[in-house]
Amino acid sequence: NSFLSFILIIIHFVGSICGGPIIAYIYGIGDVLVNQGSKNTGATNMLRVGGIKLAVLTFSIDVIKGIGLTYIMLYILRYIYDFHTQYVFFHLHEYPLIIKKIIMNNLNTTLIMILVTIFHIFPIFPNIKGGKGVSVMLGSAIILLPLKILSLIIFIWISTFFIKKIVSLASIISSISLSCISIFSLFINIYKIKDNIENITDIMVWRLFPDILGILIVPAVIMYSHRENIKRILSGEEKKIIIK
Ligand code: G3P
Repeated sequence: NSFLSFILIIIHFVGSICGGPIIAYIYGIGDVLVNQGSKNTGATNMLRVGGIKLAVLTFSIDVIKGIGLTYIMLYILRYIYDFHTQYVFFHLHEYPLIIKKIIMNNLNTTLIMILVTIFHIFPIFPNIKGGKGVSVMLGSAIILLPLKILSLIIFIWISTFFIKKIVSLASIISSISLSCISIFSLFINIYKIKDNIENITDIMVWRLFPDILGILIVPAVIMYSHRENIKRILSGEEKKIIIK
């Protein structure tokens, strides 16, 4: 456990290295970024304050960080717990073995996505302002989610953005979609293998319930980081992004 805590601190340390503050520092616009637009340090506000090039750089750093950290956390989990597949969450045909592992480990892929996002939103360094977690969560999802589900969520993000032109709304709706689609997918997979499951109650209690709880935390984290955006969306004050 102390080894795991040490690893988590190291990962929190790396997770605190956010694209926005780095790019803002390099280009000398740190104060501008945290005082203008939404005052967020993510790619969207970088687009408003620093333009498309700096926004792409910020987005790329955060997505790559999400991919890297998720990969490292999976590797560590696999090493510590013999966590043998990154797709445990959706590969229900492996349930009997997986259930034993989950009961012992009490860790799963959803937890990785949540942690990677939380580390970005709440950096370990007090003087660095974290982002809202969407780019880093995308990076994590690229590793953790099956391609079909990932593509669907990206499609929902793009469609919402092109209809409403509001980035925060697209982010919130796609994080809620991620929950709904994942829960739906879990039930479909359970249904497919129901005849092969000896004890469906165990599956429900030990596997499905923690997974669903975890899946619901994902949009909860995103909604928390977007709480000011939600207020503005509801009062009609959220700014649209005008693509010229
Ligand atoms: O990823 C952040 C985005 O959803 C909202 O950013 O700057 O409009 O608060 P912002």
